[in-house]
Amino acid sequence: MSILKVARMGHPALRARARPIEPGEIKSPRVQQLIDDMFETMREYQGVGLAAPQVHQGLRVFVAGFASSPDDDEHEERERVPLMALINPEITPVGTALAEDWEGCLSIPDLRGKVSRATEIKVKALDRRGRKVELRAKNFTARVIQHETDHLDGVLFLDRMKSLETLTFLDEFGRYWHARDVPEE
Ligand code: NI
Repeated sequence: MSILKVARMGHPALRARARPIEPGEIKSPRVQQLIDDMFETMREYQGVGLAAPQVHQGLRVFVAGFASSPDDDEHEERERVPLMALINPEITPVGTALAEDWEGCLSIPDLRGKVSRATEIKVKALDRRGRKVELRAKNFTARVIQHETDHLDGVLFLDRMKSLETLTFLDEFGRYWHARDVPEE
C-alpha cells in the first residue's frame, strides 16, 4: 500500500467530473489497489473521507470512515462513521430536512466553513466486491457521503456555502468558535 499525493484546491483534477467504474473493472488490481491506497492515505492525513479525484483519479469511488478512540474525550460526542468504500454512489435525500454544520476538506487544508446538507439520505452504490449496496445515513455520516459524492462531480464544499461569512482558518476556528475540530474529508 502507499500514501497518495492529495490534490489541493486549484488543481484541475478536483473540478473534473469523474467517470463511473464498470462493474467488470471493480475487481481489477488497479481499482483494488486504489481503494487500499485511498484508505491508507485517509488514515495518514486523519481524514474522515477521501474521493478518487482528490488523489488524481477520475473515477467514481470514495472511501470514508472514522473510528473515535474511547479515551479521546474530544471526539466522544462525534458520531462514528462506519468504514466504507462506495463505487458509483447515487444519493437521494430522505425528507426535506437540512442541517448546517462545519466541514473541512483534505484538498482545502486548514479551512473550515458551514455547509447546509440533507440530514438524512439514501445511497445506492456498489461495494469493492462489485455487490449492490443500499444504505440509509443520517447526520454526520450523511454529511460525509454528500461531501465525497460532490467531489466525484467536481464540486467543493466552498461551492455549497450559502455565505462565505463562516469561512475560517483552523487557528481562528479553535480560538473564536470554540468548537472541537472537524476532520477533513
Ligand atoms: Ni473534501
